[in-house]
Amino acid sequence: MAPSVAQLETSAPQTPADKVAELKKPAVQTDNRIIPEGISYPFYYPYYDVSEKWAPLELFDHDDPGLRANPAKPNILTPNVTTRDLSPYLGTEIRGIQLSQLSKEGLDELALLTAERKVLVFRDQDFKDIGPDRQVEIAQHFGPIHRHPTSVYRDNAGDIYKEYREIDIKNNLVSWHSDVSYEKQPPGTTWFWILDQPSVGGDTLFLSQVEAYNRLSPEFRKRLEGLRAVHSAVDQADYSRKVGGPVRREPVETEHPLVRVHPVTGEKALYLNEGFTRRIVGYKKEESDNLLRFLFDHLARSADVQVRASYEPGTVVIWDNRVTCHSATRDFSPEFRRHAVRLTPQAEVPIPATSD
Ligand SMILES: [Fe+2]
Repeated sequence: MAPSVAQLETSAPQTPADKVAELKKPAVQTDNRIIPEGISYPFYYPYYDVSEKWAPLELFDHDDPGLRANPAKPNILTPNVTTRDLSPYLGTEIRGIQLSQLSKEGLDELALLTAERKVLVFRDQDFKDIGPDRQVEIAQHFGPIHRHPTSVYRDNAGDIYKEYREIDIKNNLVSWHSDVSYEKQPPGTTWFWILDQPSVGGDTLFLSQVEAYNRLSPEFRKRLEGLRAVHSAVDQADYSRKVGGPVRREPVETEHPLVRVHPVTGEKALYLNEGFTRRIVGYKKEESDNLLRFLFDHLARSADVQVRASYEPGTVVIWDNRVTCHSATRDFSPEFRRHAVRLTPQAEVPIPATSD
C-alpha cells in the first residue's frame, strides 16, 4: 500500500524556520518509499503508484490573469528590483523581489511579464521553503495545476523531477519540447525550481517560438497559418509502460493550430515541438514529415532566438509554455543529484492564427 500524503506529513508548522525543518525532515520510511541519504527535501522525494488511474481531463474556461494586469506592473517592477535581459527576444533575470510575497495584482502582472519576456529567472527566492500548500496556492492563480499522467506527481506538490543519471544513453539528451502539448488545454505560466543541484551544469535551454515564427518569410508564414498538427501522448505513455512507470490517464492525441496566438500579447507563435508533434493534419506522410523536419530543424538551429536559464540556490524559473520550447541539459557528472519540482497551470485551448 502506498503511503498517503497524510502519512508523510506531520502537524502544520508555524514559523518559516519550522516549515523548512519540516520539509527537510526524513519522511516516514515504508517498504515502498526508500529515501536515499543526502536528499535535502525528503518531502518531495519521487514516488508513484503504477496502479493509479485517473479520468480524462475536462475542458474549463481559462481567464488569463495577464489580461487583468496593469501594464506598468507597479507591484513587480518596484524601485528595489533589478532586471537583466538574457536576449532581446526572451529571458529576463530578476532580483529584488520575493515571489512568495506577491499580491493578486502582482501575480496578474507576473502573468503579463512572463507572456512578454517568455522566460523569467528569479534569483534569491524563498519559494522552495514556503511549503507545498502555499506553492500550489500561488501557482493556481494562473490556472488549474496539470496532473502529469506518467511523471512523478503528487496532488499537493505538483510534478517532481527524478534524478537525471542517464548521461550515457545517447550522444546528447537535448530534446526540444513544450510541456504536455498534447493536452487540449496545454500549460501556460509554468513554475520550476530546484531542491538539490549540481555545482555547475543542468541549465535549461529555452527558445522563443514567436521570434522563430517571425524569422520565416511572409509567404511561408501565410502558408502555415490555418494548418493543424497532431500532438500525441502515445510515445510518452508507451515509454512509461516499458520502464514500469505509471500511465494514469490513457494517452490522448490532440489537433492544435500550427500557428497560435497568445491571448494576452496577441503575438503569433509556431506551435509545434519535436517531443510531441507527430503529423500535419490533411498532409500525406512525406509532405508532413518534410514540413515538420524543416520546422524542427529551424527551431533547434536558431541559437539566436534561444537562451540558457542557469540555476543558483534559490532560483525560480517561470516560463510561458505556450510560446516557448525548452530542453534540459544533462551535462553534469552522475555523482551530482538534480532534484526539482514543477507546477504547471493549464491555460486556454490554443487560439489559431489567421492570415492578416
Ligand atoms: Fe519540459
